Amino acid sequence: MEISPSILSADFGNLLSDIKKAEKEKPEFLHIDVMDGHFVPNITIGPLVLKALKGKTDIPFDVHLMIEDPDKYIKEFAEAGAKNITVHQEACLHLDRTLQFIKSMGIMASVALNPATPLETLKYVLPSVDMVLIMTVNPGFGGQVFIDEMYEKIRELAYIRKSRGLNFKIEVDGGINVENINDVVFAGADVIVAGSSIFGSGDPRENIKKLRGAVKR
Ligand code: DX5
Ligand code: ZN
Repeated sequence: MEISPSILSADFGNLLSDIKKAEKEKPEFLHIDVMDGHFVPNITIGPLVLKALKGKTDIPFDVHLMIEDPDKYIKEFAEAGAKNITVHQEACLHLDRTLQFIKSMGIMASVALNPATPLETLKYVLPSVDMVLIMTVNPGFGGQVFIDEMYEKIRELAYIRKSRGLNFKIEVDGGINVENINDVVFAGADVIVAGSSIFGSGDPRENIKKLRGAVKR
């Protein structure tokens, strides 16, 4: 299991200091939630913040674009240091073209699905993605409750991957904590995004340890 702490729940007034605390536990990614107030009802951060963090932390940036017309900004995020860019299926008119464009930047190209969007919508792009992000809450805010129906979606995606002999990673995002992380991993998730359970309270390093320790298989 890999972990991608979401800075959405970090203290934005002390962002680098919070990231440095998480960095001690060597998470595989740093999840950066980009929201535009159109695709989702919230506004967060843009490429300027990534640029400011670039070179100040070793954790690779896992950029989750919750924005309309992501093609406009992909180049800028790639240049700002993204190791992975995830776009939403629901926000892309030409999803295959967008994924190829991300790949042309020499970085990982991934796609996210809102809870209500069926896996079938990804049937023809699965061979060309590095990760599929299953949203386990409706995107827009940290600290929401995990939607239990998403266990089945994760299991189905893991089954499809196996039966088609593909090797993309399954990332999950929203409402993951020490209580449910084991079930989420057991269902088939490889990369766990966690915001409030890492940066919400207490020490981010200890919180990552607790999450990893809660995975029994
Ligand atoms: C929600 C974001 C998530 C969020 C997760 O739209 O995509 O990455 O930060 O936060 P928690 O882990 O608190 O649900
Ligand atoms: Zn996210």
